[in-house]
Amino acid sequence: MQCRENKQFGFVHGDICDARLVQSLFRRHDFDLVVHFAAESHVDRSIVSSGRFVRTNVVGTHTLLDCALNAWKSSSADRRFHHVSTDEVFGSLGPADPPFTETSRYDPRSPYAASKAGSDFLVRSYAHTHGLPVTITNCSNNYGPYQFPEKLLPLTIVNAIAGEKLPIYGDGGNIRDWLFVEDHCAGIALVLKHGRLGETYNIGGGAEMANIDLIGLLCDELDRRFAADKSLAASFPRCPAASGGSTRKLITFVKDRPGHDRRYAICADKLAHELKFHAETVLADGLRRTVDWYLNNERWWRAIQTGAYRDWMKKQYGAALTGSNA
Ligand code: TYD
Repeated sequence: MQCRENKQFGFVHGDICDARLVQSLFRRHDFDLVVHFAAESHVDRSIVSSGRFVRTNVVGTHTLLDCALNAWKSSSADRRFHHVSTDEVFGSLGPADPPFTETSRYDPRSPYAASKAGSDFLVRSYAHTHGLPVTITNCSNNYGPYQFPEKLLPLTIVNAIAGEKLPIYGDGGNIRDWLFVEDHCAGIALVLKHGRLGETYNIGGGAEMANIDLIGLLCDELDRRFAADKSLAASFPRCPAASGGSTRKLITFVKDRPGHDRRYAICADKLAHELKFHAETVLADGLRRTVDWYLNNERWWRAIQTGAYRDWMKKQYGAALTGSNA
């Protein structure tokens, strides 16, 4: 069943910094659970301009916390405020460092990471000072359906399909720990049900990979798909795989991101031991499902590739994508 068909579902298009709106929602509905996903999340955008990150991630989180506290303070019912955060708050790892645990020191290094660290600290402070019943999860890099094509994986897929270059920052050796979005949601659902109040849990995919290797796998998956289904060539004739070539030839090394964190890796042992959570989707399956989704949902991502998106692509990558390939 689609969410919208569920009578218990309601959608309000609003701004989490709008305290009057958020307060009015808490007044209208007796919420027992808040799951706070809302964030500005793209590191590159936070480098170009960080004001929106501070506003949404810090001020927005503060607004939600205040409204929850005010609404819940006179009731003894079971409540929970869950905050969704990121591994980027812990900074960057060296090649031989152990993965981040829940007690790793915070060391945010991009304006995005700093704004998420600020929001985590606010949530913890509301628990400590006001007794707000909170839990926090810090996840590794998500991928899967419906991801905005500014992020590495969807950007690579939509560009490859269109025969456009695939930008890789620096030497492509930066490592991320990839988590399929449905596994992330399953981990959050477990914490909502059974996570101990006041606790933080890491959620990771257990799938560390260098960007260049990941993009290579993705290109191979696309090539296989085009070879197996000849109708794709008609739908996406500009993809090199449409004429039997390899999409790998679109890979293009571009100028590195300033302050680019070298490696993230998550130790999710706490969630595994306490709540028996394991990310079920192996990377190869997750990539296959993600490629499938973007091939079958062209209308969704084409609708995004409008003025503001095109402006961002031009600003971020400019002439680099007309340069030479790998
Ligand atoms: P991203 O999806 O932006 O997530 P994050 O920076 O939050 O981890 O990027 C994932 C990795 O891919 C990161 O190391 C930066 C790199 N990257 C590129 O090489 N090229 C790109 O065009 C983008 C968007 C990211």
